[in-house]
Amino acid sequence: MVKAAVLGYGTVGSGIVEVIEKNADVIAAHGVDMHVKYILDLRDFPGDPFEKLVVHDIETILADDEVKVVCEAMGGVEPAFTFSKRAMEAGKSVCTSNKELVAAKGDELMKIAKENNVNYLFEASVGGGIPIIRTLNDALTAERIESIQGILNGTTNYILTKMEREGADFDGVLKEAQEKGYAERNPEADIEGYDACRKIAILVSVISHKKADWEKVRTEGITKITPEDFKYAHKLGRTIKLIAMCEKNGDGYYAMVSPRMIKTDNPINAAQDVFNAVLVHSDMLDDSLYYGRGAGKLPTASAVVGDAIEEARHVGEHFSTGWTSEEAKLLDIDTYRTSYFVRLKGVPAERASELAAAFSKYELVDAGLSGEFGIVTGELEEGTFKKAFESLKDAIGYIRL
Ligand code: HSE
Repeated sequence: MVKAAVLGYGTVGSGIVEVIEKNADVIAAHGVDMHVKYILDLRDFPGDPFEKLVVHDIETILADDEVKVVCEAMGGVEPAFTFSKRAMEAGKSVCTSNKELVAAKGDELMKIAKENNVNYLFEASVGGGIPIIRTLNDALTAERIESIQGILNGTTNYILTKMEREGADFDGVLKEAQEKGYAERNPEADIEGYDACRKIAILVSVISHKKADWEKVRTEGITKITPEDFKYAHKLGRTIKLIAMCEKNGDGYYAMVSPRMIKTDNPINAAQDVFNAVLVHSDMLDDSLYYGRGAGKLPTASAVVGDAIEEARHVGEHFSTGWTSEEAKLLDIDTYRTSYFVRLKGVPAERASELAAAFSKYELVDAGLSGEFGIVTGELEEGTFKKAFESLKDAIGYIRL
């Protein structure tokens, strides 16, 4: 029998205990007899069915040789980093849902895992319950991954879906999402794109085997998106999604998180509400799509437990792959080429010469809104576009296609 410890008894931590114990028979049918021996938390949980497993001191877990797998669901970098490091140094494998930690210190933790002949797995850190990391590290290992386009944040996808369906504005939908528990009281990491940014940096690290610095990824959130933007998008047969993307170019990667006007028949538009989707383009398989719940107690816990089972199968054997501390080459995003939707005040006829001076190619978009209009530019480099956009008078905003 393999004994597991769970660090953090919040939403994901309690989900991990539930999945391991409720589905113990399913897990056993896969050849692994696993049970939770300890739950680490600062709090007590009187009345909870697992209250007797709760301990307050990490040393209890570290000193117990029977514990072979540690599921970390604490969130944040510290003390999660120190606890994970010490657990691996004590001969225990660690699995996690903690994207902040994986994005910041995944390379160090993977090195520690190798040095101690244990494993460090992090499936739940990207796309919640969607098995995208294992797919990239396992099923797609014969593939050259050329690009990844993802809806990697459930909160913002819920907000954008609702704005689109109801014609509602951002602030109102955010407030409602907070009331329903779909958005945090401090929603900054989600709505400003930082959460999706960490996740795409993790994916770049997985496919490049080098550490991608999430702080170098150009990141724009959804706070400026309006119901009017959706009217233009519909006119173009498109919708608006917060897209985290990476694209291989030579020996480097373009990576960015930003709202994009994607075609409504783009397969990742299947992700509505809190769902996530990841579209991988690789050289042999072509496109493949991974879809599911990117957040939530049981979906996230299921991914952590999947890792825990894999680690239980490999006690005493280091098998996990990851990335080194060498920095992945992130290309200057100002050289990335795409087309742009631009909203402008006024009427097209009066602004034709100004627009022709700014853009060699553009098409008008009329969404029937008074006192304004839209254009879609030809494909051009981000840096060139930004200069042209800044030269325009009374531009309301832009969204990348
Ligand atoms: N806040 C995240 C989301 C949770 O909305 O997707 C899962 O990482």
